[in-house]
Amino acid sequence: MHFHLRRTIFVLLILLKTTTFAKNRHLDQQYVNCTNKGFDCGKFQNLNYPFWGSNRPQYCGHPEFELRNCGSDAPEIVINSVSYRVLAINTWAYKFTVVRTDYWNDVCPKDLRNGTLYESSSLFSYDSRTQDLILYYRCPTNIGTAVQAGRFSCKEEESTGLTNFFATTTSMSGRLSTTACNQSVTIRISNSAANNLQTNTTPGNLTAAINSGFEIDWDAENSRCELCQWSGGLCGSHNVTKEVTCYCKDRPYLYVCGSNSSGSSSDFTVVNQR
Ligand SMILES: *[C@@H]1O[C@H](CO)[C@@H](O)[C@H](O)[C@H]1NC(C)=O
Ligand SMILES: *[C@@H]1O[C@H](CO)[C@@H](O)[C@H](O)[C@H]1NC(C)=O
Ligand SMILES: *[C@@H]1O[C@H](CO)[C@@H](O)[C@H](O)[C@H]1NC(C)=O
Ligand SMILES: *[C@@H]1O[C@H](CO)[C@@H](O)[C@H](O)[C@H]1NC(C)=O
Ligand SMILES: *[C@@H]1O[C@H](CO)[C@@H](O)[C@H](O)[C@H]1NC(C)=O
Ligand SMILES: *[C@@H]1O[C@H](CO)[C@@H](O)[C@H](O)[C@H]1NC(C)=O
Repeated sequence: MHFHLRRTIFVLLILLKTTTFAKNRHLDQQYVNCTNKGFDCGKFQNLNYPFWGSNRPQYCGHPEFELRNCGSDAPEIVINSVSYRVLAINTWAYKFTVVRTDYWNDVCPKDLRNGTLYESSSLFSYDSRTQDLILYYRCPTNIGTAVQAGRFSCKEEESTGLTNFFATTTSMSGRLSTTACNQSVTIRISNSAANNLQTNTTPGNLTAAINSGFEIDWDAENSRCELCQWSGGLCGSHNVTKEVTCYCKDRPYLYVCGSNSSGSSSDFTVVNQR
């Protein structure tokens, strides 16, 4: 009797161990990896989809949302081959605040480039509380008297008798003759910074307006990913096809845990809302 009890307990323990092991082994490894690793990058902590980078694998995020330079306090993201410093991230509102890396503390970068988002997909779009800031380089000084534009200087043209102007959508009334200037670059600032620039037009004000950044709204299939999360999954991207994927305990699915069809995701919302 004593012997039988011990044997039963022993067998039970073995069974328990085996089932626990089997359960762990069958957890989807990508699901486990995306859950386990808290993703810290620069001053940002506990970042999740769509961001990835550093030690966070790409499949835990969206391919276009790689954060670089996580060791510094100002991580960067590249959009349409233009690099931006990330100043703030609001995951719940799907927004982040960025500033062009080349224009950070420098209104005269060597390589003048536009960084507009207009041509890109719906992935990134300017927040409605932002506007264009146009920087005009190497203009004749006399055109400045005719327009409501601020002036700034770069080292290079100090001896050339040329100057630079800036104008925002708010301050411009189409009077600045862009053809008179050698180059123009359009960047983005917040409406509040633009309002401030109307009355404070010093070069210091210009730098401050640019450095405060502007908001970008993102759509990395946000609503699809909410459905995935509500079904117990984690959004990520397929490691081969790069398509948005719902990682679940048992395996990856396209839309929600247990289903690869988008149709049943609406069934799921109905069930969930009851
Ligand atoms: C999950 O992470 C571990 C440890 O970092 C790694 O060895 C493994 O390859 C990862 N699994 C997948 C599916 O990427
Ligand atoms: C930026 O875009 C404007 C408007 O399309 C264009 O006139 C200007 O030449 C561009 N600047 C650069 C540096 O490419
Ligand atoms: C701008 O200046 C550069 C160098 O001085 C010159 O080569 C170029 O032709 C100028 N472009 C325009 C549009 O004036
Ligand atoms: C704008 O410039 C004025 C004068 O230099 C300064 O007093 C003010 O603090 C500046 N404002 C900002 C937002 O930088
Ligand atoms: C993608 O993930 C699957 C499942 O974890 C793995 O078997 C495969 O080797 C991965 N492929 C690449 C290219 O990483
Ligand atoms: C569902 O989608 C996932 C992720 O793309 C894929 O790995 C899996 O094979 C699909 N399953 C079926 C039954 O189509």
